Amino acid sequence: MQLVIRESSTAVGLWAARYVQQRIQRFAPTRDRPFVLGLPTGGTPVEMYRHLVEFHQQGELSFAHVVTFNLDEYVGLSATHPQSYHAYMNRHLFDHVDIPRDRTHLLNGNAANIEEECAQYEAAIQSYGGIELLIGGVGIDGHIAFNEPGSSLRSRTRIKALTQSTKQANARFFGDDVEQVPHHALTMGVGTIMDANEVMIMAQGSKKSLAVHHAIEGAVNHLWTISALQLHPHSTIICDEEATLELKVKTVRYFKTLMQT
Ligand code: F6R
Repeated sequence: MQLVIRESSTAVGLWAARYVQQRIQRFAPTRDRPFVLGLPTGGTPVEMYRHLVEFHQQGELSFAHVVTFNLDEYVGLSATHPQSYHAYMNRHLFDHVDIPRDRTHLLNGNAANIEEECAQYEAAIQSYGGIELLIGGVGIDGHIAFNEPGSSLRSRTRIKALTQSTKQANARFFGDDVEQVPHHALTMGVGTIMDANEVMIMAQGSKKSLAVHHAIEGAVNHLWTISALQLHPHSTIICDEEATLELKVKTVRYFKTLMQT
């Protein structure tokens, strides 16, 4: 696992956007060989999306041959609800870039048959040969996508109940009213995430520092699902200084030296 440390949360967003741009350009996608991206929502990636839109508007990046799969979606919100992840993606990325709409994929949290919806999502990912680069954030409790503590590290796309801690963290998007936060989400599983060729997790702020500690210095443990990345052949955590607060000084020094070399 690689750990990249930047001085501030804004620098994390820019670094992540540049990285995505370079990966897409090096891949040189075509219509028949698209670049498949896994994408998160939430507060963390907003700055990255802002830069990706900027690169597109400056003519430096095209999404014409990019396919996207979002990591998760709430159950029970309509796609047009401002806090649905459908609306979030339109607002922060899809409305501003040249991505064909039929190549963007989000789970339908209102599907009549949830099991079928999740199975079809997995099949759709497979139909493109899997995810090339999956980007995620991390919850205070170490969740990736909505794989809350105790999730099977081999789980696939399915419905999950959100923990009280996650609902409280997300209440800020629902007028600080925790009762308005949906109780469930459809989410890629840890196994689905681990199947991506490359995984990049973004973490910003001291609130995420315990999760970063468990990811880097802890044991692989289903209570901190981010720790599963230790078993991934190509994973990176990109974080700001604040998010390293729970790491040992020597761990931080080691990864900073690696970055220089
Ligand atoms: C959202 C997602 C979640 C968030 C996590 C952190 O698509 O998959 O795992 O990345 O809850 O959320 P923020 O960035 O709002 O702190």
